[in-house]
Amino acid sequence: MPGRYGVPTDPDYQERLAEFEARIRRGEKIEPGDWMPEEYRRQLIRMISQHAHSEVVGMLPEGAWITRAPTLKRKMILVAKVQDEAGHGQYLYHAAETLGISREAMLEALLSGKAKYSSIFNYPTLTWADIGTIGWLVDGAAIKNQTMLAQCSYGPYSRAMVRICAEETFHHKQGKEMVLLYAQGTPKQRAMAQDAINRWWWPALMMLGPHDKDSPNTEVLVRWGIKTKTNDQVRQEFINEHAPEILAAGLSIPDPELRYDEKSGNWLHGPINWDEFWQVVSGNGPMNKERLEARRRAHAEGAWVREALEAYAAKQKKAAVAV
Ligand SMILES: [Fe+2]
Ligand SMILES: [Fe+2]
Repeated sequence: MPGRYGVPTDPDYQERLAEFEARIRRGEKIEPGDWMPEEYRRQLIRMISQHAHSEVVGMLPEGAWITRAPTLKRKMILVAKVQDEAGHGQYLYHAAETLGISREAMLEALLSGKAKYSSIFNYPTLTWADIGTIGWLVDGAAIKNQTMLAQCSYGPYSRAMVRICAEETFHHKQGKEMVLLYAQGTPKQRAMAQDAINRWWWPALMMLGPHDKDSPNTEVLVRWGIKTKTNDQVRQEFINEHAPEILAAGLSIPDPELRYDEKSGNWLHGPINWDEFWQVVSGNGPMNKERLEARRRAHAEGAWVREALEAYAAKQKKAAVAV
């Protein structure tokens, strides 16, 4: 019979579970060969693979602007950033593989449309200012989440996050620098920066996930140290940092209810349009179809690389046997 988190209720299992939870409370990392509840493994595979898919799909909105970057410097920064995101996908697929799922199974889930990835990447990048705004707000929101996940109880995920966060910090800084520059630029540049903030502000808040009361996984994720903060806590941290900076740059935020609350020290926001969020998550966002098509095309066009690698590995193995 399933117990509280869908686990067996026999005494042996309970003993192991108690020891597992005690390790997490002591701040120990859980490593791939260690005993873990099936639900812990399932939640981690779900989160890490979604995260890996988000890094890879996240290359698409920005990649579209590489050939249109206004200067060589901006182009080099953007190429480096998009490459970093591919590397983040690699670390994360590896981390998920340590839990017993294959890379092929994860990619199949993504390409068939079964797996989820971050809602934010289903929005279009309409102007060059979107590239700066994505760095500032989207990577900014991602860092809040990833800094928290760097403390996570699963060793491989936590270590991947430490490396990823170092690079995300650069993504965030270059985006902020770009938007601040345009905010002080010509009227046309200021208008372009403002338009980008207007379009990305709400999706950035949404990408941190549903409110805690609507997030059924939060309790178990916090209990097992996979998350150390809830969606609403992370979102509040993001707003507290970014709202004053955007306003100080002379830009506005598209939320008439946004205000600083002296008592709590927080920037309070107006209602989030969760209908839009769920539409985007369930495949009906402005760019869902294009993103999946682009991934499928890239996968098909990369078939020869996978075949060549397999042929090379087989040749190496044959050579090793011969020696
Ligand atoms: Fe990333
Ligand atoms: Fe990034």
